[in-house]
Amino acid sequence: MQERWVRVAAKDDVPENSVIGVRVGDHDIAIYHLARNEFRATGNICTHEYAQLSEGWLEGHEIECCLHAARFDVRTGKALCPPADIDLPVFDVKIEGKNLLIRLSDDMAE
Ligand code: FES
Repeated sequence: MQERWVRVAAKDDVPENSVIGVRVGDHDIAIYHLARNEFRATGNICTHEYAQLSEGWLEGHEIECCLHAARFDVRTGKALCPPADIDLPVFDVKIEGKNLLIRLSDDMAE
């Protein structure tokens, strides 16, 4: 299986304890900077209805949707409370120099 890592942002684009939304091809991705230089990536669209999680509130490793307050664990994508009951896709993140890269799955077009 071929690994496809794509640069999505500079590390400095995502201050600690914050989230940004980026586009990778047709996909909306949320990039999170947690404490202690830990970066995570999930799909940016809430699995309940349509809202960008990057517009929500990040607390620790949980993101709260701005529309109906569903929460997700950004490390696992797990939906933690109603009204969302479908998990988010998660992506591996790596740091290369000043850049953040995510690994795309084989079925994702760039
Ligand atoms: S759209 Fe996110 S909780 Fe409803």
